[in-house]
Amino acid sequence: MSLFITFEGIEGCGKTTQIRLLAESLRARGLQVLATREPGGCPIADAIRSILLDSANSRMAPRTELLLYAAARAQHVFEVISPALTEGKAVLCDRFTDATVAYQGYGRRLDRELIAQLNRLAAEDVVPDLTLLLDFPPEEGLRRACLRNESLPEFNEDRFEQESLDFHRRVRAGYLEAAAREERFRIIDARGTVAEVAARVEMTVAEFLLQKERA
Ligand code: TMP
Repeated sequence: MSLFITFEGIEGCGKTTQIRLLAESLRARGLQVLATREPGGCPIADAIRSILLDSANSRMAPRTELLLYAAARAQHVFEVISPALTEGKAVLCDRFTDATVAYQGYGRRLDRELIAQLNRLAAEDVVPDLTLLLDFPPEEGLRRACLRNESLPEFNEDRFEQESLDFHRRVRAGYLEAAAREERFRIIDARGTVAEVAARVEMTVAEFLLQKERA
């Protein structure tokens, strides 16, 4: 039984840690798990990721950015996600199509119908079974993301962390609107300790798996 779970949220919401913890707990239940991320997840998409996040590329046009995210996703779905789902694995992905809706659609204000078309093209119609939106206040998320980057040996705040608070508020609003529209979303309060958030994630996934088994 394949399973595709995506994690979404603004910068600093704690997705990466929560994916690692959920992967461990699903493995302990005997599932074969693949944890991956976007942009990235395979060499071609990782190369596109470095172009996208390089703060030296401040002149990148919003449409260039949109097409690069789509290109990275097309390769990632083709090379990693689709084959893993075909093999019956549980795929956990740090960001997917909803990130493009939230960041390029609501953050950059690009045409949302065009984004929906590009998402379908890039994702080969692969749609998550479950999307966990880790909801977190943008002010705190940005502060966390900056602290994390400052602690890296080569401090280089990425292009999105340089965006204004207003941009990140629009991104959060975009995610919340998508969550209200699409049934596959669950909103998780990402405030509190890592263990508290992990317990919320685990409970939500357990409920979903139970529903899926009964269906
Ligand atoms: P990360 O911080 O989760 O590694 O994601 C990298 C950045 O890329 C983050 O600022 C969000 C941004 N992003 C988009 O703008 N559009 C997308 O489609 C994806 C997948 C990420």
